[in-house]
Amino acid sequence: IRLAVVFGGRSGEHAVSCISAAGVLSHLDPELFEVSAIGITPDGSWRQIDPTTLPVVHDRQLPQVTAGTSVVLTADPTAAAVVPLFGTNGQTAAGIRPAGGVETGVTAQHFDVVFPVLHGPYGEDGTIQGLLELAGVPYVGAGVLASAAGMDKEFTKKLLAAEGLPVGTFVVLRPGRDTLTADEKDLIGLPAFVKPARAGSSLGVSRVDDWADLDAAIAVARQTDPKVLVEKAVVGREVECGVLEFPDGRVKASPVAEIAVGGDHSFYDFDAKYLDDVATFSIPAELPDAVAEQIRQMSVRAFRALDAQGLSRVDFFVRPDGDLVINEVNTLPGFTPISMYPRMWAAAGIDYAELLTTLVRTALA
Ligand code: DAL
Ligand code: MG
Repeated sequence: IRLAVVFGGRSGEHAVSCISAAGVLSHLDPELFEVSAIGITPDGSWRQIDPTTLPVVHDRQLPQVTAGTSVVLTADPTAAAVVPLFGTNGQTAAGIRPAGGVETGVTAQHFDVVFPVLHGPYGEDGTIQGLLELAGVPYVGAGVLASAAGMDKEFTKKLLAAEGLPVGTFVVLRPGRDTLTADEKDLIGLPAFVKPARAGSSLGVSRVDDWADLDAAIAVARQTDPKVLVEKAVVGREVECGVLEFPDGRVKASPVAEIAVGGDHSFYDFDAKYLDDVATFSIPAELPDAVAEQIRQMSVRAFRALDAQGLSRVDFFVRPDGDLVINEVNTLPGFTPISMYPRMWAAAGIDYAELLTTLVRTALA
């Protein structure tokens, strides 16, 4: 199976995507896959990468796609000619001109399937999925709509709530609205969480313990996304559940994992996640069986509420009384060494390599 693993990209989670890709590339079954590693630089140029030279975290320095031999797709207007993209069944191909026009019929590198190991905007949000639909190439994971809906915390919550799933209280600040009204502050209460609507890995997220700090937190979130959410804090334990679609169409939920954040992090922020290594994980989470089962069922319902495909990781809070709140759905969850998704499936008896094979076979089914 000719598989292209695409990673890096234009989002704030570029480095996380590189770390995820390193994990994926090192666990793909070499007997089954002929693998191409395609890195997208932070400014949007596509590069063929030697998978053995994949950037990794070193001395707290985050990895980045910089080099790479042939350019596959580029935003650089000085780059040579048309850039071949992906072929369909070895016949047609779509190429994208640097200036943006789409062209078919150019000689292309052919892939049977693409695994977009991309997190955040321009990867997890339906954009590359749309490109691949256009080129007629199967890909791992959710389609355009579910990717876009899962990326956007406003619409994720609206779709989940419409299915009767529990979500937290939130206020949306679209561009042009810079703060909350007094009534909204009463509704949200303190502490509050301020988040870019479309981002991941906690980038741009602040915890606000005093309303005097709200506007600064909104400004921080706005650096990542002009649309900002202010959420009521949920007091509770943080747990996650993996959802996996099998080639025969069955959709299953993994054992539930719990994350506990130590050190001086007031929540599970970017540094706690990827740099400081202060979180501890338990799989399966120590929860009453009925609560764990409810989490698993709600995870599958959340996957279906978004019309997702392939995989998702659904993140929850468990309140002290056992009530659940869904925090978010990640349609392309991390595959880094600290990431829960592959570990939760390993706990279910599906090791990392088998998980990847399943994801690709489902994409091709
Ligand atoms: N957004 C990161 C990669 C995650 O959800 O795992
Ligand atoms: Mg996320």
